[in-house]
Amino acid sequence: MIVGVPKEIKTEEYRVSMTPAGVKELVKRGHRVIVQEGAGAGAGFKDEDYKGVGAEIVKTLEEVYDKAELIVKVKEPQPEEYKLLHEGHILFTYLHLAADENLTRALMERKIVGIAYETVETDDGYLPLLAPMSEIAGKMAPQEGAKYLEKPQGGLGVLLGGVPGVPPAKVVVIGAGTVGMSATMVAAGMGADVTLMDINVERLRRAEEIIPANVKTLFSTDYTIREAVKNADLVIGAVLITGAKAPKILTRDILREMKEGAVLVDVSIDQGGISEFSRPTTHKDPVFVAEGVVHYCVANMPGAVPRTSTFALTNSTLKYVIKLADMGWKDAVRSDKSLARGVNLVKGFITHKAVAEAFGLDYHPVEEFI
Ligand SMILES: NC(=O)c1ccc[n+]([C@@H]2O[C@H](COP(=O)([O-])OP(=O)(O)OC[C@H]3O[C@@H](n4cnc5c(N)ncnc54)[C@H](O)[C@@H]3O)[C@@H](O)[C@H]2O)c1
Repeated sequence: MIVGVPKEIKTEEYRVSMTPAGVKELVKRGHRVIVQEGAGAGAGFKDEDYKGVGAEIVKTLEEVYDKAELIVKVKEPQPEEYKLLHEGHILFTYLHLAADENLTRALMERKIVGIAYETVETDDGYLPLLAPMSEIAGKMAPQEGAKYLEKPQGGLGVLLGGVPGVPPAKVVVIGAGTVGMSATMVAAGMGADVTLMDINVERLRRAEEIIPANVKTLFSTDYTIREAVKNADLVIGAVLITGAKAPKILTRDILREMKEGAVLVDVSIDQGGISEFSRPTTHKDPVFVAEGVVHYCVANMPGAVPRTSTFALTNSTLKYVIKLADMGWKDAVRSDKSLARGVNLVKGFITHKAVAEAFGLDYHPVEEFI
């Protein structure tokens, strides 16, 4: 198969969908890989690195879409890319269709097969292509929180780990899933006094098996949250109710009871965020203050560490890319239920229930097409 790796054109997106090591695997299996000039630059890969493992380098985005059958990307296509897609293309990338009706309708019109990383799901509900980005955002959260707790950045002026004779900062992590656990372990490693909260006792029980002594767990209710965040220096929002908007846990009155200059790193912002005031921000302008609390609400946190993110993403996507290239999409999807759950669009029809429901469109199970 001919596989295309375009340069990402979304603002501030520096990741690339395939590393030279991934390209080498495909070439070894007899596939052709077309890489756009400069596609890997943001993540630290040179065109020569790709050429060295057998990729063909082309100058323009148009050439990639023209030549390739399987387009492997990181972010959803941007409006200038819509017209380059056509029937016969298989697009494998993060799509987040339920959040964007224009994109959904544009991709339906282009009659492509669209497979979304974020809905590839194993039988036990694990999202193997979303988890690596949650791990990264989770690990970044205490790091960003520590930065914005510094006085010149608008924070309280507290050092996360404290020093002998001065207690460490109090960190409250709300949600003990992938983001929450990664954040907890980093915050604890930095020496903070961490409280990890969840509404799922089983999650807290599992956490108890691995957390160090400076972390305690607390069942999450309106009452316990209010009490915990009152004394917190840093709060990390890491909740997820699959498919739904994040609950507005930090209401105006709760924020008013928090310390002036405390920081909220609201990782859940891509689902709307946990503060009544949360709105998406960018790496260029990441924070704003509401009710005295510094809100950090960057919606694509992993974009700031494109090299790590690219490796983490491609480590997980490669086996599916190989399957799609080796078998073609129909046989690949027939043989792999997790991948089948990733198919959102086939030739103008929506094959993901939640996406169809989001826009009142007809739902067609992918089995109709394979
Ligand atoms: N901003 C970014 O760059 C970025 C990057 C990656 C992930 N995320 C987002 O971070 C969020 C968390 O992702 P995840 O992979 O950790 O999800 P996850 O499903 O692994 O964990 C979510 C946890 O939240 C808990 N929860 C739900 N409601 C709660 C409540 N009221 N109080 C306490 N806990 C509650 C759930 O029980 C679950 O344990 C998602 O919205 C995800 O999309 C954002």
